[in-house]
Amino acid sequence: MQKTFTYKNEEISYSCQGKGALVILLHGFLENKSIWNNTISFLTNSFMVVAIDLPGHGSSPCLGYVHSMELMADVVNELLKHLNKRKCHLVGHSMGGYVALAFAEKYADKIYSLSLICSNARADNKQKKIDRTKAIQLVKTKKNLFVEAAIPPLFNTEQKNHMRAINKIKKMAHDTSIQGTIAALSGMRDRYEREIVLKFAPYPVLIIAGEKDAIIPVQWLKEQSELPENCVLEIMEDIGHMPFLEDRIMFETLLMRFLKGV
Ligand code: MLT
Repeated sequence: MQKTFTYKNEEISYSCQGKGALVILLHGFLENKSIWNNTISFLTNSFMVVAIDLPGHGSSPCLGYVHSMELMADVVNELLKHLNKRKCHLVGHSMGGYVALAFAEKYADKIYSLSLICSNARADNKQKKIDRTKAIQLVKTKKNLFVEAAIPPLFNTEQKNHMRAINKIKKMAHDTSIQGTIAALSGMRDRYEREIVLKFAPYPVLIIAGEKDAIIPVQWLKEQSELPENCVLEIMEDIGHMPFLEDRIMFETLLMRFLKGV
């Protein structure tokens, strides 16, 4: 069911279904909460599942010109308070994982477990920061071009034709405002390295990597999976940056197995 809560006088959109321990799902850049629809249907048999539209995405407004990971983590904390819950399992895809790590840094005691899906605790390197700044310039005048180029490489199209999913995400991306797109790009470019959050994680961590992910190399995730004391690393063969769309059944099985074991 679609609902809203208020963060600093702005209405933030979320959905909530099922009963049990709370799982909060955080989508990636240019996506929105509906990206999780299949995952939600699967998890609601066992959990209370909440998916949020992060600021500037889906039906949630922009909260300024830069959406830092810390700002978005505070929005998630407000959601937790609004739900009257003390703790959650946090699941973040890519940019959603950067937000989850920022939340984990500030609010470690509010986490049952942390799942990072094709996400990464390192900051952008110098080249990536330059690329983000160029992307911001492009989005200002030609956002359509940016979206058309940015979405297809998220999938491993060598194995399977993902045209339907690609078009679905392109639509979400085209629906994301220019301000929302730039605020997220700026926030990701300026984000801090958070490997220390993994190193000292007092809760179980799941890292799901796509073997063919062109955005977050699997090698980085192999290295980062060594940091937490209690970490499960799952490498999905032949999968790109979108495991929950590229192999839904495998993704759901891995996530459910981890969450149930916590
Ligand atoms: C995402 O899918 O959220 C982004 O591709 C992450 C990024 O650009 O670092």
